[in-house]
Amino acid sequence: MRPEEIARMFSRIARRYDLANHVLSLNRDRAWRRELVREADPKPGERLLDVCTGTGDIALEFARTCPDLEIVGLDLSEEMLRVAREKVHPHPRPLSLRGERGERAEGSIQFVRGNALELPFAQDSFEIVTIAFGLRNLPDRVQGLREIYRVLSPGGRVFILEFSVPQHVLVRLIYLPYLRYILPRVGGVLSGSRTPYEYLRDSILDFPERAQILEELSEAGFHPVGYRDLTFGIATLYRGKKPW
Ligand SMILES: C[S@@+](CC[C@H](N)C(=O)[O-])C[C@H]1O[C@@H](n2cnc3c(N)ncnc32)[C@H](O)[C@@H]1O
Repeated sequence: MRPEEIARMFSRIARRYDLANHVLSLNRDRAWRRELVREADPKPGERLLDVCTGTGDIALEFARTCPDLEIVGLDLSEEMLRVAREKVHPHPRPLSLRGERGERAEGSIQFVRGNALELPFAQDSFEIVTIAFGLRNLPDRVQGLREIYRVLSPGGRVFILEFSVPQHVLVRLIYLPYLRYILPRVGGVLSGSRTPYEYLRDSILDFPERAQILEELSEAGFHPVGYRDLTFGIATLYRGKKPW
């Protein structure tokens, strides 16, 4: 699928995306995002880009954890970004009230429309780049990783959260039938469209093995690289560093 078609598919389910995520993952998605932020260990003043930000939950989790970050969330779907912006400013207020108590952390988040394969930023623009459940959607993963490498400053870190197929045979026995038959149906009911959840199932099953992703990270220039499985290997958190 072309990036624009994928973005259109997400636009159609934007309003129900979060609910479907929480139900289908039994709320583990929240814990996985928190784990990513914990592992990234952001420092005040760092600049962070969240690629394929969707409804902005990674960006918001960073803002909550470390209020002095400069955060940009990027996505190709305007509808997903609209939901993300509403989470930052749930009730439209007159400009004069902006910046009042309680808005400071969220005020440092900017959501922009753009393509992960051609990031609209200069090289060395960020200390941290994250991409959660987005790499699977890129038709050219290595190009996506090269773009992340380009916009990271030397010493900068990338963190990738992605679904995986569990390695343990007993976990696979339960998870694979769930993924193949239950997830598309339940996702369809919750979101009003089954297509994105059939696509989710197929793209998880087609996603390369962990070792291959590490190779692609290295190919893009990252060193060192590594990964850690989460929740029996249903999700994997990859990391890489742009050398000094
Ligand atoms: C599964 S959602 C993940 C959203 C969010 N990161 C999360 O953790 O829930 C994937 C997102 O990637 C976006 N996307 C797909 N292809 C893209 C591309 N080429 N450039 C930017 N965003 C893209 C979609 O619009 C969608 O919002």
